[in-house]
Amino acid sequence: MIFRLVVLFILVLTTSNVFLYASPGNDTDQHALLSFKAKITDDSLGVLDSWNNSIHFCQWKGVTCSRRRQRVRAINLVNKNLRGTISPHIGNLSFLRGFYLYNNSFHGSIPNEIGRLFRLQQLNLESNSFEGGYPANLSHCVRLTNISIYDNKLEGKLPTYFASWPQLYLFALGKNYFTRSIPPSIGNLTLLHSLHLDYNSLVAGIPLEITHLANLELLALAVNNLSSMIPLALYNMSSLRIVSLTQNELEGTLPGDLGITLSQLQEFYIGENRFSGLFPPSLANASNLVNFEIWGNNITGPIPNNLGNLPNLEMLSLSQNLLGGGNNRLIDDWSFFDSLVNCTYLQYLSLNENSLRGQLQMSIVNLSTTMEVLYMYTNQIYGGIPREIGKLVNMTTLSLFGNLLTGTIPGSIGELSKLGTLDLSTNGISGVIPPSVSNITQLYFLALRCNMLQGSLPPELFTITTLQEVDLANNRLTGVIPVEIVFSYQLFILLLTQN
Ligand SMILES: *[C@@H]1O[C@H](CO)[C@@H](O)[C@H](O)[C@H]1NC(C)=O
Ligand SMILES: *[C@@H]1O[C@H](CO)[C@@H](O)[C@H](O)[C@H]1NC(C)=O
Ligand SMILES: *[C@@H]1O[C@H](CO)[C@@H](O)[C@H](O)[C@H]1NC(C)=O
Ligand SMILES: *[C@@H]1O[C@H](CO)[C@@H](O)[C@H](O)[C@H]1NC(C)=O
Ligand SMILES: *[C@@H]1O[C@H](CO)[C@@H](O)[C@H](O)[C@H]1NC(C)=O
Ligand SMILES: *[C@@H]1O[C@H](CO)[C@@H](O)[C@H](O)[C@H]1NC(C)=O
Ligand SMILES: *[C@@H]1O[C@H](CO)[C@@H](O)[C@H](O)[C@H]1NC(C)=O
Ligand SMILES: *[C@@H]1O[C@H](CO)[C@@H](O)[C@H](O)[C@H]1NC(C)=O
Ligand SMILES: *[C@@H]1O[C@H](CO)[C@@H](O)[C@H](O)[C@H]1NC(C)=O
Ligand SMILES: *[C@@H]1O[C@H](CO)[C@@H](O)[C@H](O)[C@H]1NC(C)=O
Ligand SMILES: *[C@@H]1O[C@H](CO)[C@@H](O)[C@H](O)[C@H]1NC(C)=O
Ligand SMILES: *[C@@H]1O[C@H](CO)[C@@H](O)[C@H](O)[C@H]1NC(C)=O
Repeated sequence: MIFRLVVLFILVLTTSNVFLYASPGNDTDQHALLSFKAKITDDSLGVLDSWNNSIHFCQWKGVTCSRRRQRVRAINLVNKNLRGTISPHIGNLSFLRGFYLYNNSFHGSIPNEIGRLFRLQQLNLESNSFEGGYPANLSHCVRLTNISIYDNKLEGKLPTYFASWPQLYLFALGKNYFTRSIPPSIGNLTLLHSLHLDYNSLVAGIPLEITHLANLELLALAVNNLSSMIPLALYNMSSLRIVSLTQNELEGTLPGDLGITLSQLQEFYIGENRFSGLFPPSLANASNLVNFEIWGNNITGPIPNNLGNLPNLEMLSLSQNLLGGGNNRLIDDWSFFDSLVNCTYLQYLSLNENSLRGQLQMSIVNLSTTMEVLYMYTNQIYGGIPREIGKLVNMTTLSLFGNLLTGTIPGSIGELSKLGTLDLSTNGISGVIPPSVSNITQLYFLALRCNMLQGSLPPELFTITTLQEVDLANNRLTGVIPVEIVFSYQLFILLLTQN
């Protein structure tokens, strides 16, 4: 009995305490919110009209309160077309856990008072125009799980106090103006899953410590000035799903067993760097792979002939490398191609500017009908274009120029009705231009120059109203320019020289 009374007494005490304590807190929160509103200079959607004294601030648009204490727990004003700066009073919302201003026009610096929000877990200031340096006091917000200030105008160096955020899951400072190197202390973010530092001006190497991030799934460092070798241990990070390093000055070779060590890989982008060495033969082991982009490096060797084991593959971008069997004429560099017919979602395939020698595979017509873009120009492909090429009904771009192709242009080309660009220049193609081209009703770029085409210009060609550029120079065409040319009212270049 005595025990019960004591318990009751404590309960009463606690409740009244909370009550007494809550009122001044409420005033602080309301005052802080009104100060926040006061710094908004443009609210074209009238979102903050409801932020007035006629209703409790917990009912204001975008404000969420804790039920018990009636203290502001979250501010969510994403996509609200707001312009202004963040008032330093924000630091008084001491119960704030989520602060979301994604996609507005906030500018000015991010006030250091934000560091007083020691309960803050989610900070999303993405897609605004915040300027100045990184708010150093954010290191005091030790409960942060997500920090995104992606797509702003912040400058200076990246923070170094990563050990302050033991729970951080997402760190996104990409698309800003950060300079200097990636601090090694980033390896202290033990729970990090996503790291976005892409589209800055970061220099020097990728620190080895990044490979200590055992939970990292997404690593985005594209479009910086990073250099040197990638730490080899990075290829051992089996948690990685998305790796984006495009447009840097990174070097090194891709390990042969990459497809095995990075077994979860879905997207891999290293285009426009200085990688060399052999194409990894094990790639097809990464069975979840969707996008693979290595264009613009110095990668050599044969393309493995089992890529058809990648059932989800959508994009394979291998152009501008040194792929191919080199001078060994016994190797058919195109034998890998047949296997690609198994990739039922393939949309984009670029193989241009390599030294791939061999016959144009008949299997080209059995590629998935989802195919949209096919770049195979500037290689050493011979043979004819198969008659059934018209099966690839979704194609928008077909470019085969600068090869050794012979034979004629199949009439079925007219079935590629979505085609915008058709380039077969600089080959040994003969015969006439098939009248069926008039069925390619969205064609705007047609290049057939430097071939051995004969006959007259098909009048039907000029019934395509979208045509902008037609290059038929250096062929054996005869006759007059058809009167139908008046229909091609967008046509601004027509080259017929040397016919
Ligand atoms: C205050 O907010 C309420 C609720 O949105 C709104 O109905 C009222 O018009 C507002 N009052 C003023 C003076 O803006
Ligand atoms: C950004 O917000 C504006 C205004 O509400 C909206 O029209 C636009 O669709 C949003 N953009 C994105 C990418 O969410
Ligand atoms: C809130 O924050 C501002 C600026 O940081 C400060 O001047 C003010 O004293 C704080 N306290 C209250 C109760 O508003
Ligand atoms: C930032 O943190 C320092 C301590 O590291 C503190 O002295 C200072 O008052 C803080 N600044 C603001 C604006 O809260
Ligand atoms: C935190 O970031 C992760 C990864 O992008 C995302 O899945 C999650 O929804 C984010 N959490 C919040 C509350 O925004
Ligand atoms: C943070 O990282 C640095 C550099 O890797 C390391 O020297 C330091 O010990 C780490 N600190 C903590 C608290 O883990
Ligand atoms: C990389 O460095 C060059 C020269 O220093 C500079 O012109 C370029 O803008 C930089 N690129 C990026 C993405 O920072
Ligand atoms: C990668 O992992 C393998 C197997 O665990 C190990 O033998 C190798 O030394 C590791 N490589 C690096 C660079 O960490
Ligand atoms: C490829 O190698 C050549 C010759 O060593 C070099 O000049 C060129 O810059 C390299 N290209 C790339 C993208 O690394
Ligand atoms: C293509 O798919 C078939 C049927 O699923 C399979 O037997 C064959 O091994 C695959 N070929 C390649 C090269 O992936
Ligand atoms: C053409 O592409 C679209 C979009 O990728 C796809 O939905 C459609 O199924 C494709 N058509 C064919 C015949 O594959
Ligand atoms: C254009 O396509 C239609 C329908 O497929 C076909 O009947 C016609 O013959 C084609 N035109 C030419 C010039 O091939």
